[in-house]
Amino acid sequence: MIQIHNFENPFPQLIQKIFENKYEFYGELDNLHEILETPLISNDDKEYHKQIHGWKTDRNSIFIRDFHEYVDNNAIFNETYHEFIKTYVQPLFPHETNIVIQKTPNIRYSFPEAAAIGCDPNDPENIIGLHCDSNFGHNENEMNIVVPITKMFSTNSIFYEPTINSKIHPMNFENLVIEPNQFLQAYFNKLLHCNRINQTNKTRISFDIRVIPYSKYMENLDFFKGTKFELGKYYIVL
Ligand SMILES: [Fe+2]
Repeated sequence: MIQIHNFENPFPQLIQKIFENKYEFYGELDNLHEILETPLISNDDKEYHKQIHGWKTDRNSIFIRDFHEYVDNNAIFNETYHEFIKTYVQPLFPHETNIVIQKTPNIRYSFPEAAAIGCDPNDPENIIGLHCDSNFGHNENEMNIVVPITKMFSTNSIFYEPTINSKIHPMNFENLVIEPNQFLQAYFNKLLHCNRINQTNKTRISFDIRVIPYSKYMENLDFFKGTKFELGKYYIVL
């Protein structure tokens, strides 16, 4: 359900470049929130990052836009991403010749006093965005990969139930503690997971990537055809 793998992480130095080039930020990435105190960020964007958002607007961050602009203009990102998948993720599915992956990883930022995902009106107290991915229409054959760009720990990280339908209260979920030289493989399609308000004074940055074995994708072709999860739009085959 949950496995942690060691690897050589090429992404932090690429992500660092985004903020060096755009904001002349040369600090540690887990201090990225310091940029929010500078005039380089508009007041609207500052305000945005001081709040917890609902699901619909939780992707409007200027830093998420910066990431997508970088991906669109620097072929090195996709080369590195595909190399990572082939070297470290494909071997997790030894019986598959191909795998289907998210075309671009989701990047998550959890800034101090905020959270990396949106909240839900039904969230229990002190819990942000309790869900499993199947709640959002994702196919049950998906596996989740989480790649830390900065260390993930305590309230800047993810909380998850250890087994499906555990009935454990989210305040008692497991806390993911993971270093940037490790990545997580998890079945978040069915395992409930959530965030909390980041009460560490460190920003967390991470990628999450959804992966489907190609044979399972083909078996469920009717599910994918014509949905937002279609190949070429949301997913690509490697
Ligand atoms: Fe999720």
